[in-house]
Amino acid sequence: MAQSRGQFSSKIGFLLAAAGSAVGLGNIWGFPTQAASNGGAAFLVVYLILAFLLAYPALMAELTIGRYSKANVVTALANLNPRAPFSQLGWLVGFAAVAVAVIILSFYALVAGWMLAEFFAPLAAKLANQEASLWFKTGHFQRDALMCAGMSTLTVLIIARGVENGIEAWSTRLMPLLFLILIGLIGYVLMQPGASDGLKAYLIPDIGRLLDPALILSAMGQAFFSLSLGVGTMLIYGSYLRDTDNLPRMGASVTLLDTGFAFTAGLLIIPAIYVAQAQGVAVYSDSGELIAGPGLIFQVLPALFAHMGGAGDWMAIAFFALMSIAALTSAISLLEVPVSICVERWQLSRTKAAWLSGGVIFSLSVLIIWQFDALFSLAITASTVYGQPLLGVTLCLFAGWVLSRKKLLSELAKGHPEIESSLFWKIWPTYVRFVCPALIILTFVQSLR
Ligand code: PHE
Repeated sequence: MAQSRGQFSSKIGFLLAAAGSAVGLGNIWGFPTQAASNGGAAFLVVYLILAFLLAYPALMAELTIGRYSKANVVTALANLNPRAPFSQLGWLVGFAAVAVAVIILSFYALVAGWMLAEFFAPLAAKLANQEASLWFKTGHFQRDALMCAGMSTLTVLIIARGVENGIEAWSTRLMPLLFLILIGLIGYVLMQPGASDGLKAYLIPDIGRLLDPALILSAMGQAFFSLSLGVGTMLIYGSYLRDTDNLPRMGASVTLLDTGFAFTAGLLIIPAIYVAQAQGVAVYSDSGELIAGPGLIFQVLPALFAHMGGAGDWMAIAFFALMSIAALTSAISLLEVPVSICVERWQLSRTKAAWLSGGVIFSLSVLIIWQFDALFSLAITASTVYGQPLLGVTLCLFAGWVLSRKKLLSELAKGHPEIESSLFWKIWPTYVRFVCPALIILTFVQSLR
């Protein structure tokens, strides 16, 4: 089986694929809006600390388990120690991770579909007529289901092509494009009146909020969601890494790229909110809070674009292309989790596995669209607030306690022969055994009170 597994063909291919997974709606939408409503730069500071202190070690746990096992999340965890009860436990945690990945993708594909609809709306106004544009702008069952089906189909088509020709090739094309659109949009928004107030709000910390438990919990959830942790995505990407690649360095680069993208997205979104305000668009709700949720993306920003006249339509098209691309490279990494299991455990062909998993997940998305009020936020909270951090801790425990120190060392030494004398090796094994799980659980308990 080992020979038939896919592999990333280059370091940069892996980096762009892993960054493609990590950089998504969480960075461009989640991070800036959470920062804007949680003390601006105070959130940024806490987020950066947590990303490197908690999320990076947890990411390393996933990448190391993945490359050591060269298998999907279920097989990897079940085989780390084949004796009872570890194997059964591994099996259980593996399937829990798949379940969470499936739930995340079912709402993620729906939100990605909204982005696609907002992309088509101004395009339809230009190419067809206002009526067509309105169809894309107004949320209803047919539109949501059709757009979600479009996003899901693209995801399936890329995943069906495999690791090198699908995941790697498309991430390598889409990620630089994403970056260019982001920089272009920032350049434009920063020249508008009001933008400097946004920069101030974003970059000057409200020190009083640094230790706010609610802020810390949101920042932790955001860091885990943003780095795609706890659901076996990074584990499977790690399993496609070559033995010669230096894992700690790869992990650090992915963390830097992800936090760098989130920070840069903040330079677009937060000034854009203030520019919108300067143009008379309502950015605060009746209760005086900043509009941060879906309202921001689907009301405030489109209202801002509408104020910009002719350029506004192009801004809207570029912005929602940015959101759709970011969502697509994350969605493919989520679909790879169940697909790798279907291929490796049940010997399905990749194409069949991709259509089957994509089909099941799309049915769940349709269920969410149909029972939106009952299911949408439930799916988000269950999977991202509870599922991801809890599974993240469990994966740290597997790396620290189930995989022996000797095996960890020999795995890491493959791409980094001097690892034993590095600072990383002095800290990380103990860190992942005790400190990381304790910190994650503490943050949790703190927030439940
Ligand atoms: N990291 C992605 C984002 O920020 C979401 C994601 C979560 C992707 C979990 C894969 C796994 O949007």
